[in-house]
Amino acid sequence: MEVEVGAPGARIEPRDSSWWRRAAIYQVYLQSFADGNGDGIGDIAGLRSRLPYLAELGVDALWITPWYPSPMADGGYDVADYRGIDPRFGSLEDAEALIADAHAHGLRLVVDIVPNHTSSAHPWFRAALADAPDGPDRARYLFRPGGAGDGAEPPNNWQSAFGGPAWTRVVEADGRPGEWYLHLFAPEQPDLDWTHPDVGEDFLRTLRFWFDRGIDGFRIDVATSLAKRPGLPDITPADWVANPAGTVAGPDHPYLDVEPVHDVWRAWRVVADACRPPRVFVGELAAIPFERVTRYLAGDQLHTAFNFDFLRTAWRAADLRATIDRTTDALHRVGAPATWVLSNHDEPRHLTRYGWPDTAYRDPALPLQGDPDLVAGRARARAAALLMLALPGSAYVFQGEELGLPQVLDLPDEVLQDPTWTRSGHTVRGRDGCRVPLPWAGATAPFGFGPEGSRPWLPQPASWAGLTVEAERRDPGSMLSLYRSALRIRREDPGLASTAFAWLDAPDGVLHFERDAGLRCAVNFGPAPFPVPDGAEVVLRSDEAPPDAPLAADAALWYRRP
Ligand code: GLC
Ligand code: CA
Repeated sequence: MEVEVGAPGARIEPRDSSWWRRAAIYQVYLQSFADGNGDGIGDIAGLRSRLPYLAELGVDALWITPWYPSPMADGGYDVADYRGIDPRFGSLEDAEALIADAHAHGLRLVVDIVPNHTSSAHPWFRAALADAPDGPDRARYLFRPGGAGDGAEPPNNWQSAFGGPAWTRVVEADGRPGEWYLHLFAPEQPDLDWTHPDVGEDFLRTLRFWFDRGIDGFRIDVATSLAKRPGLPDITPADWVANPAGTVAGPDHPYLDVEPVHDVWRAWRVVADACRPPRVFVGELAAIPFERVTRYLAGDQLHTAFNFDFLRTAWRAADLRATIDRTTDALHRVGAPATWVLSNHDEPRHLTRYGWPDTAYRDPALPLQGDPDLVAGRARARAAALLMLALPGSAYVFQGEELGLPQVLDLPDEVLQDPTWTRSGHTVRGRDGCRVPLPWAGATAPFGFGPEGSRPWLPQPASWAGLTVEAERRDPGSMLSLYRSALRIRREDPGLASTAFAWLDAPDGVLHFERDAGLRCAVNFGPAPFPVPDGAEVVLRSDEAPPDAPLAADAALWYRRP
């Protein structure tokens, strides 16, 4: 039996195969969540011990970042064995126990998978390096001779996402410089050649391997880029176009959204649909226009994709409304649900972002414009949570956002781990500032992240003493209390269960909409106060004002219309 989506007031039931259409999904950045054995790195044992916290928080599912054996050149997004668990994180038995425990807590489990590239420590890549140019073991990757006559120039002008050329030259068996291989990310992450049959076959095996172990779905890393245009042509300025969400790929981009990538997801969908219950995919489809993102979501490929346009929109009523309309209209055309996301492990935390003068998404490569206003950022982050959790569709909560953690901007240079830091020649600090281990309890580091005396892999600011789970649990005005209330209402209130949604009239600077059963959300971006309508039953407010006080700037309200 399948429970109807949006049955009023229903919790998402274990057998509801449409759970992904409206789930609240919590992103666990495993190495920074909880450290069970005291080596400073979060692990499966730590996560298992905190499942009660996550169940109590009121989320429906977890997305766990890569847990596979990896040299960790890019936080585990460099996978050496897709069907194993890195010993830092535990064992396969631990993973199986986690899956069972999560399910027992009513939490579904989505695991990251990284099909665009492997680790350079993957047996296939080791074999490729050992093989001769043009040898069969090189054919699973993108090895090419260099340009400029003597082969000393990279084969084309593509750049790595972390800085520098997307090509590295190898030394052949005879000791001479030889071919180059493609890596859209770090050199330790060679891109696979998806036209090679072994590649597709092996990934289908990996899908079945984890589906057989009971995981509920995969988050697909870099789901845009598996297919490359034949001949690997240079990128030209025309391959980047401006769009409301920033700069995105044009139609002829040589590796973003190249047609055969859709065939990969069609083949994966067949495997997911054959499972009982069916399993789901959420794709990371960044840097392409949203209208093209929805092509992946028409029913025969992926189930959902992150709405990065929402994450990148400035804290301004008109801009957010335009993004919400543009993305939901596009999704509606293909029958896919929306996904809302404010932060993840690649972006500056939104509490800090919303405190920057322009509040917009900023390229992490840009220098900071002064200190963020964290008081404004916090108020906006609270209001943003009520906005996001009131919208129809599924919502992603990045670990620590429920505690109101800011981006850590002053990590000492010597602790930085993100490959961006070295690849940019120490000019771009990278993403470590959103990956600092969580504070759970106590007044000093490690704040319960690991046992007393252990040293987290990135240092935690002393100021986080007031942001621990323990401290916030006791405080009804904390971010944690707000998230818990909002997630509980989102799950229980019939007003938020269906996909019903309609904008209401509102003055400039206010977003105001109604969901089902008279449940409404108002978000004031300022400056004019927004009066609570007469007779409204206030359900939840993001600020500490009395229930019927006018809504000031940077505050949000859920209420039931009279
Ligand atoms: C995705 C991940 C990011 C990683 C990159 C390369 O964007 O979210 O963390 O560095 O892919 O795998
Ligand atoms: Ca550990």
